Amino acid sequence: DIEKKIDTLMSKMTLEEKIGQTVMYSSETDITGPVLDKDYLNYIRNGQVGAIFNGTGVAFTRKLQRIAVEETRLGIPLLFGFDVIHGYKTIFPIPLGESCSWDLELMEKTARIAAIEASAVGLHWTFAPMVDISRDPRWGRIAEGAGEDVYLASLIARARVRGFQGNLSDDNTILACAKHFAGYGAVQAGRDYHTVDMSEIRLRNTHLPPFKAALDEGVATFMTAFNELNGVPATGNKYLLNDILKKEWGFNGFVVTDYTSINEMIAHGYAKDLKHAGELAMNAGADMDMQGGVYKNYMMQSIGEEKIDIERLDEAVRGILRMKFQLGLFDDPYKYCDENREKTLVLSQEHLEVAKDAAMKSVVLLKNKNNVLPLKTTQKIALIGPLADDEHDIVGTWGAHGHRDGQAVSVKEGFEAKKVNFKYAKGCEISGGNKDGFKEAIGIAKRSDVVVMVMGESEDMSGEAASRTNIKLPGLQQELIATIKAIGKPIVLVLFNGRPLDFSWEDENVHAILETWHSGTSGGHAITEVLFGAYNPSGKLTVSFPRNVGQIPIFYNQKNTGRPLSAQNPNLEYASKYLDVDNSPLYSFGYGLSYTTFEYSDAKLSSDILTSTTPITASVTVTNTGDYDGEEVVQLYVRDLVGSITRPVKELKGFKKIYLKKGESKMVEFEITTDDLKFYNNKSEYINEEGEYELFIAGSSNHEFTNKFHLKK
Ligand code: IFM
Repeated sequence: DIEKKIDTLMSKMTLEEKIGQTVMYSSETDITGPVLDKDYLNYIRNGQVGAIFNGTGVAFTRKLQRIAVEETRLGIPLLFGFDVIHGYKTIFPIPLGESCSWDLELMEKTARIAAIEASAVGLHWTFAPMVDISRDPRWGRIAEGAGEDVYLASLIARARVRGFQGNLSDDNTILACAKHFAGYGAVQAGRDYHTVDMSEIRLRNTHLPPFKAALDEGVATFMTAFNELNGVPATGNKYLLNDILKKEWGFNGFVVTDYTSINEMIAHGYAKDLKHAGELAMNAGADMDMQGGVYKNYMMQSIGEEKIDIERLDEAVRGILRMKFQLGLFDDPYKYCDENREKTLVLSQEHLEVAKDAAMKSVVLLKNKNNVLPLKTTQKIALIGPLADDEHDIVGTWGAHGHRDGQAVSVKEGFEAKKVNFKYAKGCEISGGNKDGFKEAIGIAKRSDVVVMVMGESEDMSGEAASRTNIKLPGLQQELIATIKAIGKPIVLVLFNGRPLDFSWEDENVHAILETWHSGTSGGHAITEVLFGAYNPSGKLTVSFPRNVGQIPIFYNQKNTGRPLSAQNPNLEYASKYLDVDNSPLYSFGYGLSYTTFEYSDAKLSSDILTSTTPITASVTVTNTGDYDGEEVVQLYVRDLVGSITRPVKELKGFKKIYLKKGESKMVEFEITTDDLKFYNNKSEYINEEGEYELFIAGSSNHEFTNKFHLKK
């Protein structure tokens, strides 16, 4: 079996060859961080490299693999990694957008397609899914996650791992990587790479569960985080990497550092020099050094000085070799190098159709005054805005090798394909620029029945190293909306963005708002289908949209205070509130409209006593009371009223996405078990507690409780 094969191989390996397995270098074809050393080809030849990232394509990866297999003493194959985050060439909506579909099957499918395309171009490993919970829209990497909720994000983590990895011995699977372990989503003030200081309760109840879920699904690798956590950089954090991940959870894949994060421990003020940094990282449990060159240059010396045990190095090498064996690379190091698959599978029609479907399902309808949407193709439409004819930003951050200009579909192209009666004017730039284009935009708006304005952020305004403190529409976009509004035509605002923005002004000033995120390769077709009613929007927000930046962090499952503001007493003076803005978000977690309406009735429980042997069933009847067939995400929230530590005001504990024809009703049921109500107390014990619980089932988190039950031990 594999363990015996690893034993045999390791018994032949020199110390240098073992160290070589822990080293990863970037090729020069794609750069995702600073390049410290370009000599990767020689390092491969010398057996000093175990993995290469940012190199793709059958011809290129075969060339490098051949050096590793044919020119080194033991011929150990390389692993090829890449950031295939939301697709390789066929790009799906950014992960945050796609999470708004609440469709786990869809998310598994898009990850599977990403793996099929990536594995067809020589790749074995993706640095995804990012499973960091974030509640801070200033942080650009919020785009890459699954939103603010632990329960939903954990299920999404599992779905994405299943999708990427499929069956590890197949030739169209890639290793997944749960990143960034841990706490990266909580960087101070939303500034990328900043520090993180959080309680153990917050760490265990909010930030770790999606990682544990990924592990339970069999994720092959973990990546460390750039941030420090409670005074210790994550890459040198033994508590995280060894005590929790390897010992408590029993992880037996391998941990890769984030790009040069070993080296960065010097700037953190935690390591005195590179050798020290390498010792801290290796001893903490970081098995592979991404791009830093520290293990390569200093490990031998550290072992000689007995600062690193050979047993620890062996454990790291064993984890890396285990994954290479599981992928079958020792049987056929070129099994991912197949020109035919590269030609036929990448960007296939079938993949593009799924990309369109995913983009439609990720759209969230935030406002629809007077049912201005859906539009009719016979209406005279003015299509305005810096993103209306965009084939670049629509792809979004971490677009891998996604085709952009000339390949992705813009909204304008979507309109043309649907033969919409429209005129187009750009109006202004995304940011900066001047008002020269306003005149043309005003002209076409005046001659229209309705104005569709496509606005938002460019793709590089979110993602890594892309934090913002002003989260309003950039540049002159809001001014252009105000100018067009003065004409008096209804305005439909179509948004492209990688994070929640502050849309308070837009919410008051336009008729309809469609949040489309950065929707990927087929985005323009998908948005057109939604605008014209061929697809009825069903997305629900997985992250709260603040009323202004001062409310951040704002999330639905916050704790109560000793002086909460209540609906009965909204003006209480010495209460927990702001003087200038409401406590609630502009749009809540779970919120999203449809062209139809859904009514919830008859919420009931099978019993009001829950025990470990007798789960209870919560049910509700949902009726489509409007004029369109449509889908609804039915959500179950629970509140634990009194705890040994304070508990969130509500927590998502279940959801079901259902389809109802107009006039149709369905009963939706959820089983609740005592396990569903577990949490980490302040002794890090995972427990549930006897007592009273409230619940409600609704189409959004913003709802009153309707039922009560008692958990009995
Ligand atoms: O995978 C990424 C990581 O998320 C951020 N730093 C660079 C890595 C490799 O590109």
